[in-house]
Amino acid sequence: MTDTTPHRRALADRLAKAGVLSDPAWRAAVEAVPRERFLHPGVFLPEDGGRWRPVTAPDAEIAYSDESLTTQLDGHLTADRSTDLVTGSPTSSSTTPVTVVGMLEHLDVRDGHSVLEIGTGTGYSAALLCHRLGEDNVTTVEVDPGVARRADDALEAVGFSTWTVTGDGLLGYPHRAPYDRVIATCAVRRIPYAWVRQTRPGGVVLATVGSWGYGTGLAKVTVGEDGTAAGRIVERSSFMQARAEAAVPVSGDLSARTAYADSERAAELPPTLLAEWMPAFLAQLAAPDAQFVHAMTSDGAQLRYLFAPERESFAEFTATDDGWTVRQGGPVALWDDIERTLLAWKAAGSPDITAVRLRITREAHHYWIDGEPALNWQHGPGRVS
Ligand SMILES: C[S@@+](CC[C@H](N)C(=O)[O-])C[C@H]1O[C@@H](n2cnc3c(N)ncnc32)[C@H](O)[C@@H]1O
Repeated sequence: MTDTTPHRRALADRLAKAGVLSDPAWRAAVEAVPRERFLHPGVFLPEDGGRWRPVTAPDAEIAYSDESLTTQLDGHLTADRSTDLVTGSPTSSSTTPVTVVGMLEHLDVRDGHSVLEIGTGTGYSAALLCHRLGEDNVTTVEVDPGVARRADDALEAVGFSTWTVTGDGLLGYPHRAPYDRVIATCAVRRIPYAWVRQTRPGGVVLATVGSWGYGTGLAKVTVGEDGTAAGRIVERSSFMQARAEAAVPVSGDLSARTAYADSERAAELPPTLLAEWMPAFLAQLAAPDAQFVHAMTSDGAQLRYLFAPERESFAEFTATDDGWTVRQGGPVALWDDIERTLLAWKAAGSPDITAVRLRITREAHHYWIDGEPALNWQHGPGRVS
């Protein structure tokens, strides 16, 4: 490939213009790290109909595009293994630089800081960290052995012999703890306490929390002397889910799964509100294990569902001429909980996601919005309470 220095400078300019790159040290990293070297053996570009086109030698235009570049589908397929258009779900990628660099700026690193990254992916973001902090100060954990090996090779090839570890990043990496910073480039249902425990007092953990493909937020918490961590959601953020936590999509005969309801009523708010980012985030706080499912009857009528299989509960919504009817079944009335939250949120003036605060202890995860007692959620360890 040709010398990509001009492309890197142009990328840095675009990131600066977009307001995500201001620190000269990160600018130097963006200008130095060749993203194309982290795209071996190729990428999948999106095509119509949810299909992907494999490209084994992405040119500089692709490598420096402002896009996330998918590098693996369905946990195994790489671009060199396919010639035709393929279908599949992305399981590894090089995150779009605007997201990566925006997160790195949020991380507030200082010289000499030691950083744990969860979700090595291609190794591009790890390379930026190595450039900024030195290879010995970076530990990066990737759950997929093939992805980890390719990232390690790419990092070595550009001159960084860093600590690329294969393992489940939800456990952190205690052997190199304590860290000054922990950053996750996959989404987690909630920040594992192991990350808090492995961070020095005063250190920061930065991760996207939530389990839907949207309606997720970037949590930034600072670890205290007492082993708890507190902070807030700093912005909207979206990432592929940590593998161990990826929800199994609810499928099969939905009418059979909702055959027996305990209650039926008119919904006060439309479930279509959950298509919006903040209501979706709030729904995940009110009913953390629920999945939101869209469907249509054979005659074209709209249906929506909430399913919480672990709690054997569901809500089924049917569009009527006057609004929506909700049928709820199982021990937890999911829509009652979510609707109550959404009504309280509207009554509070519909605050933005950045109003959400959180505190993590060994025992619980507590989220709230200041001054709003009805916007307050406590989740216990293990299963959500
Ligand atoms: C969006 S990619 C990371 C992008 C990467 N930072 C880059 O710049 O190329 C997310 C990665 O997280 C990895 N991952 C998912 N679950 C994980 C887990 N539990 N522990 C460690 N890595 C995980 C995936 O295999 C995937 O490679």
